Amino acid sequence: MRIPASLGTRWRSSETADAVAAALKTAGGSIVSGERLCRSLGLTRTAIWKAVRQLVREGYEIRASRRVGYRLVAEPDSILPRTVREGPGKRIVGSTAVCFRKTSSTNAAGLILAGMGAPEGLLITAEEQTGGRGRMGRSWHSPAGGGLWFSVVLRPKLPVLAAQALTFLGAVSTAHAIRTLYGVPVALKWPNDIVHGGRKLGGVLTDLAAESDLIRHAVVGVGLNVNIPRSGFPAGLRETATSLLAILRRRVPRVPLLRRILAEMDRRYAEMVSSGNSAALVAEWRELTPMIGSIVRVSHLGHVREGTVSGVDPDGALLLRSPSGVVDRLLAGDVTIMRR
Ligand code: BTN
Repeated sequence: MRIPASLGTRWRSSETADAVAAALKTAGGSIVSGERLCRSLGLTRTAIWKAVRQLVREGYEIRASRRVGYRLVAEPDSILPRTVREGPGKRIVGSTAVCFRKTSSTNAAGLILAGMGAPEGLLITAEEQTGGRGRMGRSWHSPAGGGLWFSVVLRPKLPVLAAQALTFLGAVSTAHAIRTLYGVPVALKWPNDIVHGGRKLGGVLTDLAAESDLIRHAVVGVGLNVNIPRSGFPAGLRETATSLLAILRRRVPRVPLLRRILAEMDRRYAEMVSSGNSAALVAEWRELTPMIGSIVRVSHLGHVREGTVSGVDPDGALLLRSPSGVVDRLLAGDVTIMRR
C-alpha cells in the first residue's frame, strides 16, 4: 500500500541493504571481501557500497577498508523494517510493518492507514513522535530513541465493548515481555497503565472505528519508556514516570524487547480471535494487577467515586463496591489507589 508522505519520515527499505546486512551478519564479525559480496549477492561494487552507506546511516557500525572488505562491528538499536521482520510469532501482529523515524503519532497514522485498507496486523513504529497521544486527550512524551512507540492495526469481529480487552492485550503482552526478559515485576493498573514502584512505565491507547456496535478496525498503541533517564522526563512527569533505564540502571536494547512484545501479542490475539472472547486475557490481566481489594478513588468527567475494587468484568469494566455495598461497572476514569 502507498504510505502518504504527510504521515512522516520513514526508514527506507531496500532489498540490497537487507541482503548486505544479512551477509555481514552471517560472517559473524569477520571481514567479508567486496568481491565475495558481489559474487554471492550478484551485485556490483557500487551497489554494495551504496547499501553499506545506507546501513551506516541506519546506525550499523561497519568497518570498510578499500582492499580488504567489510566487517560488521555492531548492529543498531533502531526500529527498522529489517530488524522488526526478524524474530518469532507474527502470524497476524507485526506480519507487515511501517517504520517511521518521525511521525506525529503512530495511533493517528494507524487510523489513517487502517481507513485506507491496511492489512490486519500492520505494525506502525516510530523512533520519535511529535504529537504522541495518551488517554483523555493528554500528550505522550516520546523522544527519539527513548522508548518503544508503536501501534498495531487489528480487525477483530467483536463488539465495540471489547475495546478495553484490546487495551489489556497490549498491557498484558508488554508486562509479560518485560518480566520474562528482564525479571522486572511490572504490574498493571486499570484501565491502561503499566507500572513499577508506583510510577508509570508505559501505557496503552486503543482507538476504534466502529460500524453500528461492531469494531471496524482498532489501533492498539503502546508507549513504553525504555532508555529515558529520570532527568529526561519533563518536570511534570519526573515524580510520576519511570523507565527501564531508571529501574535497571542500564540501557536496554529496544529491538529484542519489541520482538518479544509482538510475539506475546500475536499469541494472545490469535487465542482471542479463535475463542471469540477475551476471558483468558482478562484473567491474565487480573493476575498482574494489585488493585483487586484496594480502596480507590476514580475520577471521570468531574465525577469522583470512592470504593473497593471488587473485580474486573469479562469485558474489562472495573467493578467498584461503594461503602453502601452497591457495585458499579466503570468503563473509564483515572484511578488513584488510596489503600491496598
Ligand atoms: C496512556 O497511558 O495515556 C496511553 C499512552 C499511549 C502512548 C502510545 S505511544 C504509541 C501510540 N501512539 C500514540 O500517539 N499513543 C500511543
